[in-house]
Amino acid sequence: MSTIALVTGANRGLGLAAAAAIARTGATVIIAGRDEAAARESADALVAQGLRAEALTLDVTSVSSVAAGVAEIGRRHGRLDVLVNNAGILPEATASGDREFIDMAALIATFETNVFGAARVTEGFLPLLRRSEGARIVNVSSTMGSLSDQSDPESPFYASDVPAYRASKAAVNSLTIGLSKKLADSPVKVTSVCPGWVQTDLAPGNREQAPTTPEDAARVILAAATLPEDAPSGTFIDVDGPVRW
Ligand SMILES: NC(=O)c1ccc[n+]([C@@H]2O[C@H](COP(=O)([O-])OP(=O)(O)OC[C@H]3O[C@@H](n4cnc5c(N)ncnc54)[C@H](OP(=O)(O)O)[C@@H]3O)[C@@H](O)[C@H]2O)c1
Repeated sequence: MSTIALVTGANRGLGLAAAAAIARTGATVIIAGRDEAAARESADALVAQGLRAEALTLDVTSVSSVAAGVAEIGRRHGRLDVLVNNAGILPEATASGDREFIDMAALIATFETNVFGAARVTEGFLPLLRRSEGARIVNVSSTMGSLSDQSDPESPFYASDVPAYRASKAAVNSLTIGLSKKLADSPVKVTSVCPGWVQTDLAPGNREQAPTTPEDAARVILAAATLPEDAPSGTFIDVDGPVRW
């Protein structure tokens, strides 16, 4: 029986690379994207490589879109084995810069996608995840969300001034801890991952400077999506191992 894995924001960037990596294990990946045509195109590209991929229209900020997506996967597969909460935005990268500390519009938009979106998708798909023999939930976070890292003057990210994004990833990490406690008596495991600084379009200009390809970065998502039965739940990892909360 093929593993059924759903990746949000999988039409491009890290999500697409993670979906491809998971599909290469023989899994069926659901390319979830808010743009139907873009999700379809990316799923078709994986199918053309001989991988198992399907498209799903899913806007993580929309209650009705998530409900429809859950119903659709329930109809198609009756369960979900892997959920990767990857969809994310960093509007501070393009905001005007006219702020004392934080741009409220950017804060609200960032939380709506990165935090409420991940929570909404998780809450919606949990009944299908519980039908799996041992589901895995991967929350794509960032070392930028680590409170230890944020307050460490030695951190290379110390001066990085994106407070809404950092707070959103700290909140995602809190969701990981809370969910792992809620699921402690179940076979479902949840992990926060930091993919590193990746060559994507998350922040304009970053693609050129970032050292890590999406394919390389996808390795930590794949590891969390395929955690063995005896692995701990509720951890925060990057490709080198545990990350400080
Ligand atoms: N790049 C990095 O260096 C880095 C580092 C640490 C963590 N991350 C995290 O990695 C994840 C993926 O980011 P990326 O670097 O691959 O950025 P990206 O290339 O900008 O991709 C973001 C993806 O999220 C999707 N998305 C945005 N809002 C959505 C919504 N409301 N519903 C569904 N999908 C939505 C986008 O879809 P559209 O195509 O429709 O816009 C796109 O597929 C994010 O959570 C990000 O915070 C990235």
